[in-house]
Amino acid sequence: MSLLPESRARIERSGYRALLAVPLVAHDRILGALAVGDREGRVFTGDDQQLVQGFADQAALALANAELFQETRARLNQTRRLAELSQLVTSSLDQRLVLDFVAEAALDLLEVDLARLWLVEGTDGHLRLAASRAVGELPVEGGVELLPPGAGLAGWVVKERRSRSAPDLLSDPQVFQKDWFIKAGIVSQLVVPLVAGDAAIGALVVSTRTRRVFDREDVELMEIFAAKAAIALSNARLYRDAREAYEQLARAQELLTQAQKMDAVGRLAGGIAHDFNNLLTVIIGRLDAMLEDLPQDDARRGDLDLIAGAAERASALTRQLLAFSRRQALAPTVVDLNKVVADVSLLLRRLIGEDIEIVTTLAPGSAPVRADRGQVEQVLVNLAANARDAMPGGGRLTISTERVEVMDPPPPGVDAASGTFVLLAVTDTGHGMDADTRRRVFDPFFTTKEVGRGTGLGLATVYGIVKQHDGHIAVDSSPGAGASFRIYVPLAEGDTIATAASAAPRPAGSETILLVEDEQQVRSLARQVLEAAGYRVIEAALPADALRIVEEWPEPIHLLVTDLVMPQMSGRAVADTVCRARPAIKVVFISGYSADAAELATDLEGPGRGFLAKPFTGRALALKVREVLDRH
Ligand SMILES: Nc1ncnc2c1ncn2[C@@H]1O[C@H](COP(=O)(O)OP(=O)(O)OP(=O)(O)O)[C@@H](O)[C@H]1O
Ligand SMILES: [Mg+2]
Repeated sequence: MSLLPESRARIERSGYRALLAVPLVAHDRILGALAVGDREGRVFTGDDQQLVQGFADQAALALANAELFQETRARLNQTRRLAELSQLVTSSLDQRLVLDFVAEAALDLLEVDLARLWLVEGTDGHLRLAASRAVGELPVEGGVELLPPGAGLAGWVVKERRSRSAPDLLSDPQVFQKDWFIKAGIVSQLVVPLVAGDAAIGALVVSTRTRRVFDREDVELMEIFAAKAAIALSNARLYRDAREAYEQLARAQELLTQAQKMDAVGRLAGGIAHDFNNLLTVIIGRLDAMLEDLPQDDARRGDLDLIAGAAERASALTRQLLAFSRRQALAPTVVDLNKVVADVSLLLRRLIGEDIEIVTTLAPGSAPVRADRGQVEQVLVNLAANARDAMPGGGRLTISTERVEVMDPPPPGVDAASGTFVLLAVTDTGHGMDADTRRRVFDPFFTTKEVGRGTGLGLATVYGIVKQHDGHIAVDSSPGAGASFRIYVPLAEGDTIATAASAAPRPAGSETILLVEDEQQVRSLARQVLEAAGYRVIEAALPADALRIVEEWPEPIHLLVTDLVMPQMSGRAVADTVCRARPAIKVVFISGYSADAAELATDLEGPGRGFLAKPFTGRALALKVREVLDRH
């Protein structure tokens, strides 16, 4: 018998003198051979040969069955994975779940060492690593997580929409971040595209640490798998996008509804408050004059004081309504919120009682905003009063300021565009509120307090003031967890912070004043006050009269006192026209109302201009007039 030389050598080394070998044949396929040997040496008979062949046939059958079983099991596993994926395609919209499953199953299906998923990000074709699964101690961390468009095998596959197999990855011209593969010990790779509809949404990459040539069957299996995975992923993506869009819409809708409602109620409240203001100006002004004239011991003083007190309260209420309706005239200057908080917290001590601790955390340096200081104080007082009511058993009230960048999209509940804001937060540890209450807190006249305790105007006022300052307000609260109100006001960087007016003004003078006011009673009150202080007053009931006077008056006019809101022409326009004709003239605006909030934000206060809110006392008018006349 002819034997290969190395076989002969091995047999000789083993010490067998006689050898009988028979083939292992199953289903016409030779699986191997069965050999028996004898060290003594013998001649194997036909019977011996038959016996050994009998064993060999049995063994061959058993081996063939085992092989078949293993193959069936692998197929079963593949089928199971594919079925699971199909199920996922129709049932799961959770992108994370799908990604993890695909990576895990790919690892298992092809018995590889590493499976990673890259997904297209944005429109320029970057790929982002979306899932990664490895067997054993592979350093899957590190390496890039964002591939430039077209980079690496994954980039190529996405661009070409074709699978690519690289048995020798490190020598593939398309390889990217080679160092990382060397570190991870990766040598072979198979990459298949994830295609959904007609878009390539990413690539599935499987890698091995021992050299492997992926055969047709491997590639086909991965492609089927990838096709299903792509559908599942794009479904999950679509769902996520739709849900995000819906949530954004719902948020916008809610803010819009709220804003519209506030606007409508605000207009109503503002209209009423405007008329009230004029009435109150007359009442308070006349009372003032009467009280000044009355001897100290006059018996009527008591009654008049009572009326004055009631009128003051009515005026406070009107101010609240105007604040809410955003129609009160503001006197905005640049104020440091840190300073306001520090000052007001002293006052709050008395308001909220001893059981409540006040903590203030202020932004480093200053927190400048363009605001009406009185209004800011009002906001703090209203919020603190609510906090006090929410903490009958004591607790902690925290007032903080902070400079923040508000992003686009803004944080939940804030309809702000991006920019730098000062965040003023007022937080308590009180009983908090449920979702229903939370939704309605800013509604005017919404209160959960017993009759006589709350009017429900506190937060409506706060809302109006914040809006009028171009700010935003949001509330976080749940039952038992306290409440936190966040107010964002645009940072007024670069402006200088106003300091208190310096020299004490003399409330009298002899200059000539042009008084323009359409409301007859207010006009005659103002004239009397000013004349009593020594001024010479020229009256005009309408803007047109005023302009005529300015043209014809032969002597200097030092000051224009004008209402802001009048028929024909606004006080501001009157002032502008008058100033053009007589540049040296100074102006005092009086108003309790302005239809246009934007108008308020700009220069009602300036070197030659001042502003006085209605209702005012005679003394306040005299002081303001003197003060503006003395400005340089
Ligand atoms: N800090 C807070 N904790 C819990 N609930 C609050 C808080 N602030 C406001 N609320 C709820 O919001 C409602 C409305 O507040 P708002 O300040 O507008 O009115 P009010 O306090 O009831 O009355 P008013 O302020 O006019 O005296 C309150 O009745 C209360 O239910
Ligand atoms: Mg309140």
